[in-house]
Amino acid sequence: MNFDEIIDRRGTGSSKWDRMHAYGGVSPDDGIPMWVADMDFRAADVLQEAMQDLIERGNYGYFAGDEDMNAAVAWWMHERHGWTVDPDHMSSTAGLGHAIALILETYTDPGDEVIIFTPVYHEFTHKIKLTKRVVHEAPLIIENGVYHMNLDALEAGLTGKERMMLISSPHNPAGRIWTPDELRHLADICARHDLIMVADEIHHDLVYPGQTFTSFLKAAPEAADRTFVLTAASKTFNTAGARLGTVTIPNPELRKRFRQALLEHQTQPNLMGVALTRAAYSPGGADWVDGLVAYIEGNHRLFLDGIAQIPALKGMPMQSTYLAWVDFAATGMEMTEVLRRVHEDARVVPSVGAHFGSGGETFLRFNIGTPRARVAEAVERLQSAFADLQ
Ligand SMILES: Cc1ncc(COP(=O)(O)O)c(C=O)c1O
Repeated sequence: MNFDEIIDRRGTGSSKWDRMHAYGGVSPDDGIPMWVADMDFRAADVLQEAMQDLIERGNYGYFAGDEDMNAAVAWWMHERHGWTVDPDHMSSTAGLGHAIALILETYTDPGDEVIIFTPVYHEFTHKIKLTKRVVHEAPLIIENGVYHMNLDALEAGLTGKERMMLISSPHNPAGRIWTPDELRHLADICARHDLIMVADEIHHDLVYPGQTFTSFLKAAPEAADRTFVLTAASKTFNTAGARLGTVTIPNPELRKRFRQALLEHQTQPNLMGVALTRAAYSPGGADWVDGLVAYIEGNHRLFLDGIAQIPALKGMPMQSTYLAWVDFAATGMEMTEVLRRVHEDARVVPSVGAHFGSGGETFLRFNIGTPRARVAEAVERLQSAFADLQ
């Protein structure tokens, strides 16, 4: 595993590289894309071997066999996260954005409110709005430099129109890992107000040394009847192009309705996504992730140390993920000027914080899941773009 290897992804249909100009006005010729949440590394050998097996078989016909993969998912959750989960409770979707949309459509009605903790992964808001449900923002507060949920304020502000709570655990952006106590508190709120809990745990593997992730159902098993846990190998192993996510639904009645919804939408597991996920959740995959986490942790130190040298910029401390979150508020600049400097002067394209909902307006999110030399180059360019700050 050589995470320093530079792979040229330009002209391959990569969203991150080939849509960068449309999103940020910066050409991939000299720009550094740090927006879309995928990584620029070569896939793990176990994944390459799985694809090679498929190629050698030379047949890509209709496919229904996700049982082995579900067993591998259960193995991984137990092995890596101490969460014991029944593979029979799992269903496959075309990724987790798809899963979220299906859950919204299946268990809520137009006009129902869905609680999200902002700023958060922009697709949460997008999917809630696209399905004609209503976003109920629970703004996170910053204490000691990191995000906290303001659960008393949330509960005091509930109106009775809420049907669902959707969390990113760990949290995208900034990688905050919610503690077992915080998760149990959320479970209590969901029980008191009869809310469905959707715990999106896609970021649970890239956890820095010394930090511990706890799955929602490990922290609050009593909430199993109202909980959906969303997982995927796609962030950890960079397989998002193969569109495969796993929805775990312990409640048999809710699970039945979900499988009916999958049937109605003619959704069957993606052959390649299944092959990659099954291969990923293995001892060889685990070794690769251990190497990856050490590498990303190094990138994160390089990036946040470099940002800290720019007066007025504040990078939020991270516990996990490759999604760094930087506050530009103290520059006193309009965000249009911040973005002009980042795009035109630094030739770097991060994600725009305002898209993550309330509280994100003065932030930019930088994806550091890329070879270290590129992270170092981005830091240098940002330092010179803001060199006049005192
Ligand atoms: C919290 C969260 N959920 C889901 C996704 C994407 O899921 P998918 O690519 O499976 O639709 C992301 C991608 O960044 C994410 O951050």
